[in-house]
Amino acid sequence: MLLLSPTRSDLVRGQDVRCPGIVPADIGLTKSRGVDDKIPLQMKVLRTLVNTSIGLGIVTGMVGCSSANYSSKPTKAVDEVMQAGFKGKDPALKGSDSVAGRIREGNATPDDIRLMVELTRQLALNSPPKGELASWTAKTVALRDATKNLADHKPGALEIWKDAANCKACHSLHKPDKAK
Ligand code: HEC
Repeated sequence: MLLLSPTRSDLVRGQDVRCPGIVPADIGLTKSRGVDDKIPLQMKVLRTLVNTSIGLGIVTGMVGCSSANYSSKPTKAVDEVMQAGFKGKDPALKGSDSVAGRIREGNATPDDIRLMVELTRQLALNSPPKGELASWTAKTVALRDATKNLADHKPGALEIWKDAANCKACHSLHKPDKAK
C-alpha cells in the first residue's frame, strides 16, 4: 500500500518536516504475468482506472510538496514583516499609515489585505526571536487565520483581526529588548 509520512503541521515548525514520502511497493503498477490472460476485461479496465488515479495522486502530492504552502522555511524574517506591514512611516500618524493601520481603521485596499495574508503567513513560519514557541505559534497562527478570514469577508473578522494583531500583546512576550 501507499505509505505516507506525516505532512507539516503548524506545531512542528522548526523541525525536520518532510513532504509525503511515497513507497511505491505493492500499488499494482507492475503487472503480474501469467494470470493476466484469465482476468475478465472489466477487471482490467477497473485496474487501469485505479492505477491511473493512484498515479495522479502521487503527482498531485509531489506538486503540492514543492508549492509554497508546504514550505516550512520563511522567506521573510520577523523584522522584515514588521517593516513591510506593521510599522507606520510618519510617527505623528501613530501607525495609521501602515498596512496594519489601514486594516484596523477599515481603510484597507484589496492589495493591502493580500499583502497582509502573505506577511502573516510568513510570520507564522518564523520562530520567535524571544519567548516560548507555543505562545508564538498560537499568536501568529491566530493572526494568519484572522487575516485569511478578513480576505474571505467572514462576518466579525475585523474585530477578531484587531485582537490578533495587538502589537503590545505580542511584543511584550516575543520582541527582544534590544530591538526597540
Ligand atoms: C504576533 C507577534 C507580533 C505582532 C502582532 C506585532 N509584532 Fe511587531 N514585532 C514582533 C517581533 C517578534 C519583533 C522583533 C523582531 C526581531 O527583533 O527580530 C517585532 C518588531 C517590530 C518592530 C521593529 C522592526 C525592526 O526593524 O526591527 C516594529 C516597528 C514593530 N514590530 C511594529 C509593530 C506594530 C506597529 C504592530 C501592531 C500594529 C506589531 N508590530 C505587531 C512581533 C509582533
